[in-house]
Parts: sequence; structure tokens; C-alpha cells
Amino acid sequence: MRSSSLISVCLPFILITCGCHGNVTPRVTFPLHSPGRSVSVFSADDVFNTTTLLLSKDEDTLFIGARNAILSLSLSQGGGLTLSSKLDWSPPEKDLTDCSMKGKEEMDCPNFVRVLQVVNSTHLYACGTFAFSPRCTFISSEPFSLVSSPKAEEGRGRCPYDPYQKNTAITVDGELYTGTVADYRGNRPVISRHLSEGGHVDLKLDDTLGWLEEPTFISSAFIPSEEKVYFFFSETGREYDFIDKFTVSRIAQVCTSDVGGQRTLQRRWTTFTKAQLLCQSAGELPYNVLQDITSLQPPEGATEDQTLFYGIFSSQWSVNSGRSAVCVFSLKTIKDVFAGNYKFLNRDTLKWSTKVQEKPANPGECGLHNASDNTLRFVKENFLADQSVQPINQELTLVSPDHLYSNIAAQRVKGANGKEYTVLYLLTENGFLHKAVLLEKGTHIIEEIQVFTQPQRVRNLLLSIPKGVVLVGSSEGVLSVPVSNCSFYLSCADCVLARDPFCGWDRSKKTCAQISSITENAGQDVDNGDVSEVCKTPVINPRSRSMSLPTPAAGCLPSELVSVSLNDVVRLPCSSTSRLARVHWEGPNGHISSNLSLQKEDGSISFLATASTLGCYKCLSVENGFSRVLAMYNVKQESSTTLQTPTHAPTTQTHTTPPVQTTRGFISPDTKLLTTAKRDRETQTNPMTKELQPTVSVQEPTVAVTRRKSSRNITPEQRLEVGGESQPLHREPTYLKELVVVSVLFALCLCALLTIILLNLRQRFRSRTAPHSPGGSPRTSSSNEREALRHSPSAAKRNGSVQNGSKPPHTLSNGALNGSNGHLPNTPI
Ligand SMILES: *[C@@H]1O[C@H](CO)[C@@H](O)[C@H](O)[C@H]1NC(C)=O
Ligand SMILES: *[C@@H]1O[C@H](CO)[C@@H](O)[C@H](O)[C@H]1NC(C)=O
Ligand SMILES: *[C@@H]1O[C@H](CO)[C@@H](O)[C@H](O)[C@H]1NC(C)=O
Ligand SMILES: *[C@@H]1O[C@H](CO)[C@@H](O)[C@H](O)[C@H]1NC(C)=O
Repeated sequence: MRSSSLISVCLPFILITCGCHGNVTPRVTFPLHSPGRSVSVFSADDVFNTTTLLLSKDEDTLFIGARNAILSLSLSQGGGLTLSSKLDWSPPEKDLTDCSMKGKEEMDCPNFVRVLQVVNSTHLYACGTFAFSPRCTFISSEPFSLVSSPKAEEGRGRCPYDPYQKNTAITVDGELYTGTVADYRGNRPVISRHLSEGGHVDLKLDDTLGWLEEPTFISSAFIPSEEKVYFFFSETGREYDFIDKFTVSRIAQVCTSDVGGQRTLQRRWTTFTKAQLLCQSAGELPYNVLQDITSLQPPEGATEDQTLFYGIFSSQWSVNSGRSAVCVFSLKTIKDVFAGNYKFLNRDTLKWSTKVQEKPANPGECGLHNASDNTLRFVKENFLADQSVQPINQELTLVSPDHLYSNIAAQRVKGANGKEYTVLYLLTENGFLHKAVLLEKGTHIIEEIQVFTQPQRVRNLLLSIPKGVVLVGSSEGVLSVPVSNCSFYLSCADCVLARDPFCGWDRSKKTCAQISSITENAGQDVDNGDVSEVCKTPVINPRSRSMSLPTPAAGCLPSELVSVSLNDVVRLPCSSTSRLARVHWEGPNGHISSNLSLQKEDGSISFLATASTLGCYKCLSVENGFSRVLAMYNVKQESSTTLQTPTHAPTTQTHTTPPVQTTRGFISPDTKLLTTAKRDRETQTNPMTKELQPTVSVQEPTVAVTRRKSSRNITPEQRLEVGGESQPLHREPTYLKELVVVSVLFALCLCALLTIILLNLRQRFRSRTAPHSPGGSPRTSSSNEREALRHSPSAAKRNGSVQNGSKPPHTLSNGALNGSNGHLPNTPI
């Protein structure tokens, strides 16, 4: 039954939705140090592990917590970083020796600064691991120096011992709220408050109560209107007692007004509650491990209830390994969940249950300081919210099938139409920064920028909206990446197709520029990227850069002239900066017979020069329904040994082109034909640079002309390419028939294969469910997994329909945010 449904699913799947991963492909890729997307780097020979970042209130200064040092840098508009001062803060030699003696790696013993916070207008507060014996200190900003204060020096409960342990800290009104482990071994987690004065006392969690279960702290946020601090972390979900070590993501809350109880819960939180954060689409396994989360302020004029939290989640289940998902939660939903019922823990059986009981108090409510012991006992036992916090629209905002995202930042950007768009910055595990805009039709990844080369274990992402930069802290240094570079897009079409809400086409200056710098009527269409609508300015000046190449009429102008001899293998290059564009070729008689030519991944085409293949070749790209000519070549038989200078298309960038050079002698078609055009060598040897050429420019001709010698080995690829060699060319039509037959057979094979793979996946989806925990048996927990699905509220609602979930896994959710209507997601189209 299931297999037949799979087969019926298969065909349309192949025919219609292939290339379904398209949308999560970043449109443009900028490799490290590429000129189109310059990145400022701060690093110094004596500064290491620059991972903790903090912006001053005016965002003119960036403070960096590094290894044995705290730095102050000035941050200029556009992201330039200049070192202002550096404080050394190293443990004494004796502590370092002790640390190594205790069996810790020497390289982990220095002082890694893990907490860096602004306390008041004149002071910062910092904590570091300090040779596995955490310490804290005040830092005065004028002059930039460490201030000793015995009361403030104890680092226990404020900073982890181990530099690889994750922690979180936030200051509110001069008090420090932290989530960290509070012991050397790292198994006493605590959420606590420090630096309290006056009527306030330092508070912490009672760690005997199971309030936290082996948590990994991620982040914290203060919401002034609620007077609450929220903590985000993942931990073992003890309420799911059917699975060992089932990880759940949590949001916990405490009130800033909390002062603890009088007898019960003395110096302990009376307002601590927690709830599960669910990032799951119906019928699928949850993305249960929180990686990072950021808050997005409500739009102007909206209430704080519309504050959003964008979280990155990965999965504990091996079927989803290597993928990550983005989910968004609203403060309103979070408040509703905390105001609802709470689960109850039976201390004898250690089982959680939901029993409707009379509530002497609402757990999590602020202002319980002088409540009765009875009330406080109730609060102490009831701290896990019964409901989970569901993402907006109960769906995932983005699923990245092949990137593990580790850090996130978000901002609202006003487009040319006045509508606000949500832009996300996502750092991938392997060092790329993705910039994505959330649209009604799904997420569009505008670009990806490589920011570091080695995967980094500890990293940090910070956004400065006034300075227009994203800051990335890593062990390799601190990078600042401008949020956009509109001038990279040279034509109106590219400017519009980018769908970057920062950028618009300046019709008077004929440049792609920041929306804010365009005085009137900027050309932009973030929602649809409709070039024909935005760029339909009349052609006044044919040399205008704003126009894409006009579709050439009969003839072959403007084009590059390519002189060849008969039986040469000709390779014509063509590439598009956009990875979303589809590149295809048209030959002298319209379509190019695919059995006489070879189109490569890089867009180039190779064919054998014969009397019938000479003529005009056009490379076209189609992106988002917009078609344009990227390059045009006129392939002619060489009349003399003199090489002709190519004529240029009007849109070609202004640069001088040396004449095309051709090399004689056979070069295997699958080797890169680098020796042919000298100028092209640079761009070819660095494929990345090549990719960065603006799509609109007519590519420099890389014309590979090779004369075949009589004795050689034919590689399979060559055979395909020069297949016509042994047969007269006039038999071309029979090839077409064969091609059709072969294509059909191939499609059938592909379908069969896909069915098998899908069945297989389905099988594995059901059977391979072991959590990633080391030593976990991959077999035994298939029932657990089904249980996990069933226990998830969304799955439960579907009432068993989970089992038929034969739809292919989502690659991209339809979830999106609409910037204008209160930022609630819209129904997917
Ligand atoms: C933006 O792109 C243009 C064109 O590629 C380049 O010249 C310029 O340096 C880039 N600017 C930045 C800040 O990356
Ligand atoms: C510090 O940086 C080095 C590389 O420079 C890295 O190998 C190490 O893991 C980093 N340590 C921490 C605690 O981040
Ligand atoms: C800021 O905090 C520090 C440390 O507690 C204190 O010494 C200083 O007086 C405070 N400054 C202001 C302006 O409150
Ligand atoms: C509760 O405590 C506040 C001070 O925190 C005090 O002013 C108030 O009188 C107390 N209320 C009761 C009923 O004890």
C-alpha cells in the first residue's frame, strides 16, 4: 500500500518538483576576500580567541573578550575596526601550573573571557575561565582599566570553568543574570542573579529540585514591559520518560522583581518556570536542539507582545543530521503558555503528569515575595508549563537541507515600497554568512559570504544596525561584514533579481544603491523580483547599463568572433553569478542538438567544429522568468593565420581585452582549457573570481580550439562529445530518435531508483532513530521515535495520521513573515 502510494508520488515528484532545493541555495556566493564583498578583519599577533563581543550603547565601540585580554575597538560607519586599548588579564603562573597539574590541556588553561556586560554608564563587567577557576572584574571605561572589587571577583555561578562550556549572561539595572554550570566538573547548572544591592538579594535555583536537567545555555533576553528575563537553552526532557536523553529546547523565565521567599525558597527564585520550545512541522521529527536564538523588536507602534524570537534548531535524530531549521516564536504565545497549566512531578515515581488541580498561585507570576509557604511550595513543584511554545503558524520558517546554522541575527529593513522586511543573518558551521529575506512565498537567500576558513567551536554573531554591519567573533579574529553591497549589482535586472531590501535601482544615476540614498522612485521588487516590471525604462541610450542586452534580431551582433578550423573542439564559456539562473545555449539553427555538444556545469558548451556547427551561439540565462543573453559568439572558419580582434557587445564592461589566442594541439576536453586565452587564465584558475563577474557583462571569450591529432586515447567524455566523428553528420536525425528513447528509459530508471531510495529513506526514517548520543543503539528506539511524534502536540492533533506521512521531507517551509501586518506570518501560497 505504502509503496504504491510512493510510486504514484514519484513521477510527479520527478517531473514537477525537481530542483526543489533551489530556494535555499544562496543566489550569489562570495568566497573569502572576494572584492565584491569586502570584509574588515581585526586580528593581531598577540590577540587570540576573540569570541566574546559587546557593543557600547552608542555602538561606536566594540569590546572584545579574548584569551587573557579585553580589548576596546572603535567601530566606524561601514565596519572599520581600530584598536583603541587592550587590557591584559591573565591568571598568575602558579594557577596555570595547577591547572595543567589537574590534567587540563595547557591550551585550555588561560583566561577565556566568557561574560562581558555593560553595568552602568561608566563600568563594564567581565568574567573569565581563569585557569579553570572563574574570576570576574569591573572595568572602568575612562580610563579603560580593570577595577578590583573583592565582592565582584568570585566567578563561580557567573562563568563556566571550562572554556568550551556554553553560558549566557545579561545585565538589567546593574544586576547580572547568568545561566552557567557552577562547578569544576560541569554538572551543577544554575540560573542565578548577582551584584544585587539594597532590598534585592542574589538569587539562584535550587539545584536539588531538578529545575534544570543537564542544560546547554544558549541565550537570554530582557523584556522591560514584562519585567522578566528569559533564558533559552536545551536540556534533557525528563517528561519524555520513554526515551533516554531526549533533548528538548526550553525557554525559562524569572521576574526581575523576585527577591526569594521568606522561609520557603529563601534566596531562591520564586518565579522560575520553563516551557518547551517546539520547532517541528506536523508529522515530522522535531528539530529539537536549540543552537542560537535572537530577538526581533516589534515594529514601530506595535506592543511588546509582538516581539519575535528567531531560533536555529538542529536535530538529535540521524535522519536529520546536517540539517537545521529556523523557527520563530512570538512573545504573545510564550506569555500564554506560561499563563496556562503546569505539569506536576510525582516525587516518588519521578513521573510527570498533567493534573488539573486547584492553584493557590499562578506559577511564574511576579510578586510572590511574601506569599505563604503553602503557595511557595506549590510554585516550587509546578515549574514546567504543560503546553509547548509553538512556532508562529505552527510551521518552520526555513529548513536548510545541507547547512548547520550556528548563529543568528535578525533585523527589520524598510523596502522602497515602505514595507518592512525581515532579514536574517545566519552563520553556518563551516564559516559562511547567509543573508536571507523572509517573504510570503518562502525564504530567499540573497547571498552567502565566506567569513572564515576553519570551522570554529566558539563563535559569536552581533549586528549593529546603526553602523550597518554584522560582526563575527571567532578564534581567527573579529570580522565586520557590511549588511549589503548594492554596487556589486551592475544592471537594473541584477539589482532587482537580488531581491535585497537594502538595494534599489537609482533610475537617474543608473546604479544599484542603498534605498536610503536614492532620492526618488527606487526600482525594487523584493517580493517578486519582477525585472520586466521594474526595469522597463525606455531605451534612450543603447549603451545604457540599465538595459539588459536587447534580444538580437537576425544576424549575430554584438558578438565575439571565434575563428576555428574544421574538426577543432570548440569550447565557449558562459557563466552567471546567480546560482538561481538557468543557463542554456542556442546555436546557429536555434536549439543545439545535445548529442553533438556538451554543456558543462560551469555553463560552458563544447562541440566539434564542422560545416554545420559554424555560426552564431547565444548563451542565455533564465532567472525568475526573466531571460537575457549573457554571451554571444560567432564561430567562423579560420580564413588565415591572423587572429581577429573580437568585437564587443555594448554592455561589456569598460576594460581592454587582449585578442583571443588559440592554442593548437589536442587538449582533453575535460581538462580546463587554460592555455587558450591568456587573459582568461586568471579568471579560470580562480573559478571564484570568475563567478563574481557581473552577470550582465558579456563574458570574455575563452575560446578553446583544439586540433585533434590522429593518435590518442578517447576518454568516455570525448567519445560523447565527438561521437559524430566516425559517422557522417547527415545521420544526425537518427540520433534524435535514439536520444528520445534513451531519455525515456533513463527517466524510467531514475524513477525506479528514486522509488527505491524513497522507500529506503522511509524505512530508515522509521527504523534508524537512535539519538546521536554516543553509544546509543540505533535499533532499539524506533518505537521511541514514533512515541516522540505522537507525544508532540502537533502530531497528536493529527490523530495518528503521522503514520501515513509519506510526503517528501520539506526542504523549505512556506512560513514567512509579512513585515506590514504586524509581522505575523501569512498563509503560504
Ligand atoms: C562592492 O562591490 C563593488 C563591485 O564589485 C566593489 O568594487 C566594492 O569594493 C564593493 N564594496 C564593498 C564594501 O564590498
Ligand atoms: C582558541 O583558539 C585556538 C586557535 O587559535 C583554538 O584551537 C582553540 O580551540 C580556541 N579555544 C577556545 C576555548 O575557544
Ligand atoms: C557603576 O558601577 C560601578 C561598580 O559597581 C560603581 O563603582 C560606579 O560608581 C557606578 N557608576 C555609576 C555612574 O553609577
Ligand atoms: C509584602 O512585602 C512587602 C515588601 O516586600 C511589604 O511592603 C508588604 O507589606 C508585604 N505584604 C504582606 C501581606 O505581608
